[in-house]
Amino acid sequence: MMTPSDVKATLSFSDGSPAMELPIYKGSIGPDVIDIRKLYAQTGKFTYDPGFLSTASCNSTITYIDGDKGELLYRGYPIEQLATQCDFLETCFLLLKGELPNLQQKHDFVKLVTNHTMVNEQMQFFLRGFRRDAHPMAVLTGLVGGLSAFYHDSTDINNPVHREISAIRLIAKLPTLVAMAYKYGIGQPYIYPKNSLSYSANFMRMMFATPCEDYEPNDVIVRAIDRIFILHADHEQNASTSTVRLCGSSGTNPFAAIAAGVACLWGPAHGGANEAALNMLEDIQKNGGVDKIGEFIKQVKDKNSGTKLMGFGHRVYKNYDPRAKLMRETCHEVLDALGLGNDPLFKLAMALEKIALEDEYFVARKLYPNVDFYSGIVQRAIGIPVSLFTAIFALARTVGWIAQLNEMIGDPEYKIGRPRQLYVGSPRRDVKAISQR
Ligand code: SDX
Repeated sequence: MMTPSDVKATLSFSDGSPAMELPIYKGSIGPDVIDIRKLYAQTGKFTYDPGFLSTASCNSTITYIDGDKGELLYRGYPIEQLATQCDFLETCFLLLKGELPNLQQKHDFVKLVTNHTMVNEQMQFFLRGFRRDAHPMAVLTGLVGGLSAFYHDSTDINNPVHREISAIRLIAKLPTLVAMAYKYGIGQPYIYPKNSLSYSANFMRMMFATPCEDYEPNDVIVRAIDRIFILHADHEQNASTSTVRLCGSSGTNPFAAIAAGVACLWGPAHGGANEAALNMLEDIQKNGGVDKIGEFIKQVKDKNSGTKLMGFGHRVYKNYDPRAKLMRETCHEVLDALGLGNDPLFKLAMALEKIALEDEYFVARKLYPNVDFYSGIVQRAIGIPVSLFTAIFALARTVGWIAQLNEMIGDPEYKIGRPRQLYVGSPRRDVKAISQR
C-alpha cells in the first residue's frame, strides 16, 4: 500500500524557475519514494538515472530486499524459512497468490502443475532447427518464445483467466523444455514427464533417465535442486524482471514477455554469472588452485585486466547475499551426502571467499558473494552440466517473472513503459547531395 508521507520534497532552481513540490510516498518497509510523475509536465525536465540506481519503477507486494541487512522476503516470509520449511511449488503458489497454500490448496496446485508438464509434440521438431552444440540459453530463449505459437487460448495478457493458465503452463513446462534442451545437446532421446514424481524429482529424471535405464533421484539431490529453485524464484526489480515488465507493458503475450526475461538473464553480469563463476573456479584450479588465488585477486584488482570475481558483488546487496549463505550450506550438505566433502572446487571457493572478504579492495566496495558464487558447485555436484546453470536459473525465475508481470498487468493504472533520454547528439542539419559530402 502506498501511503502519502507528511513530508514533501521541494525542487527549487537556482535560475529562479518556479519551485515545485513533489509528494513522497511510504511503503510498508524500505525506502520512501519521491513521486516525479508530474515533473516533466511542470518543469520540462527529465530526471537522469542510467542503470536506475535511484529509481523505483513500480510499487510491488511480491519481494522485498534490504541490501544493507542482507535480507530477502518473498511476500514477507524470510528466504531462510522458505528454503528450509517449504518446497518450490509452495513457493510458486506464494509468489503467484500472496499466501502460502494450505494442504488442500497445495494438493490442487501440484496436481494442476503436474498435468501441464508435457509440451506439444511439435516442440521436438522446433529443437531440430538448432545445432547440437547450441548454448542451452539460446535454445531456451527460442523454445519459450515458441510456446506462444502453441497456446493461442492463453495469450491475451489482459484476460485474467489467460494469465492464470499461461502461468501454470510456463511453470509446468520449463523443466520439460530445459531437460529437452539438455538431451538435444547430448544427442539422447527426450524423457517424458512422469506424473507420479514431485516437480523437482521429475526434472532430474527427465534430465538423467534414458529409455534404456531409469533414474531414481535420491532425496538429497532432489532437495538440493528444489532449494536452488526456491533461492532463485524472485528478486524484486532486477534486470530480467524489469525486462519482463517493460516487454509485457506493450500488451504482448506472456510467453513472449518471459522469453525476453530469459534472454536478459543470460548475460554474465546477471544470471550468466553462475556459469562464469564455475568456469572461473575451474580456471584457477587448473592454474595452480589455492596457491594461485593471490595472483588471481591481484588480476581482479587491476582494472586493465577486465577480470571480475564472478559470483561476487551486487547492485543491491552491500552485505552477504542471504541466498549465498543458504547455497553454501547446501554445498556442505550435498557434498557430504555424496561423499564429495573434499571437493577441491568447493575448498577453493571457500578459500577465495575468505581471502576476498579480508581484502580491502572488496571490503571498501562492499563486494560479497552473491547467489551465483556457490550455486554452480552444488549443481556440478548433482550432475548438472555448467552450460545448463543459467537455464536452471531461468526455470526457477519464471515464477517470479510471471508474478511480477501479472502484478503489473493487474494494476488498472499501468501504462506502456517508455523512458526518455538526455539527447547529446547532433542538432538539426540538412542532408547534402552525395557529391558534396
Ligand atoms: C544476479 O539484480 C539482481 O537482483 C540480480 C540477481 C537476481 O537474483 O536477479 O541477484 C542475480 O545477477 C547476481 C549478480 C551476478 N553477477 C556477478 O556475479 C558478476 C560479477 N558482479 C559484477 O559484475 C557486479 O558486482 C554487478 C553487475 C553484479 C553489480 O555491479 P554494480 O552494482 O553496477 O556495481 P559496479 O559495477 O558499479 O561496481 C562497483 C565497484 C566497481 O569498482 P570501482 O569503479 O568503484 O573502482 O566494484 C567493482 C567495480 O569494478 N566490482 C567488482 C565486482 N563487482 C563490482 N570488482 C571485481 N569483481 C566483481 N565481481
